[in-house]
Amino acid sequence: METLYLKVRDLKQDGERLDRAAQLLREGQLVAFPTETVYGLGGNALLPGAAKAIYAAKGRPSDNPLIVHISSLQELPPLVREVPPAIHQLAQRFWPGPMTVVLSKSDWIPSETSGGLDTVAIRMPSHPVAQELIRRSGVPVAAPSANLSGSPSPTCAEHCLHDLDGRIAAIVDGGACQVGVESTVLTLCGEPRVLRPGAVTLEMLRQVLPDIRYDPGVFHHLPDQAKVASPGMKYKHYAPHTRVVLVRGSREQFRRFLQGRQEPFGALCFEGDLPQEPCPLLTYGREHDPSSQAHQLFDALRRVDGLRVPVVYARVSGEEGIGQAVYNRLLRAAGFEEIAL
Ligand code: TXA
Ligand code: MG
Repeated sequence: METLYLKVRDLKQDGERLDRAAQLLREGQLVAFPTETVYGLGGNALLPGAAKAIYAAKGRPSDNPLIVHISSLQELPPLVREVPPAIHQLAQRFWPGPMTVVLSKSDWIPSETSGGLDTVAIRMPSHPVAQELIRRSGVPVAAPSANLSGSPSPTCAEHCLHDLDGRIAAIVDGGACQVGVESTVLTLCGEPRVLRPGAVTLEMLRQVLPDIRYDPGVFHHLPDQAKVASPGMKYKHYAPHTRVVLVRGSREQFRRFLQGRQEPFGALCFEGDLPQEPCPLLTYGREHDPSSQAHQLFDALRRVDGLRVPVVYARVSGEEGIGQAVYNRLLRAAGFEEIAL
């Protein structure tokens, strides 16, 4: 299939392109589009065939449910069994924005979209192109990240093209994503829990839900038979083919650790960590600026295999705010392998 490339820089001037993409979505075709977090691979959330096509295009296991994207709060009630009161406060503070809430689903949501679960994850993105595309399509839009299953999420249209060119109907190019890591996922089914950290941090959520906590699967490797709160926790994620090992320590400790290595290796570290470039290296932002790390992480992970080394040591240090989301993704990229110096 030929993938249509639609550049949208200005909502008014490029309105016809948005209409084209919206029509494709309505008809059940797949369209990659920008959000403030990462690019999504959109399909009509109400059509079982569109959900099946999403799993096929990504090579994603069909028991890993899709996030359903809406453009206004009025679109929510028909998609869920009930709207819990907390949603109004959460929505007021964090929607539109990088927050996804798991609720019990209504019969409108086909089981293909929800991965066979009786819950559905809902998000209202803030990116103007995403909002306008959903609004013009007139349907809720199911959208996982627009990458091949297992590889790092795409933060620009080039990443989507690399993974999905020829496999989907269209790509809407709206430039680079601002945040760079996927939305915070929390559940309101049972005790409130964060299932995936993101730009809306635990501390921010506690202002509305004082008792909310991280699910144990967020920072710990769960045994294979464990019942997971979010199917995404079971699968290998963000992983380059190259072995990645996290190394926790100061800049000085990291430099000394690398000096002591005999075998060939590469490094993934913060800007300024290794000015002498003792090995092939990539950086992901600045040490005390977690937003810069989130913004650059996935692009850096996509380049790891290009270093052509057997192992890459990735430096981590204290995680604050969105830094917790960065660490959560790095843990998965490293298969939970971490050395503390
Ligand atoms: O920022 C984002 O959330 C991006 C953009 C495109 O919106 N989307 C995204 O989707 O990251 P995806 O499919 O790559 O990740 C969704 C995560 C998965 O780990 C999935 O298991 C979990 O959310 N999830 C979805 N529905 C769920 C549900 N009903 N219950 C528990 N976890 C759910
Ligand atoms: Mg994903």
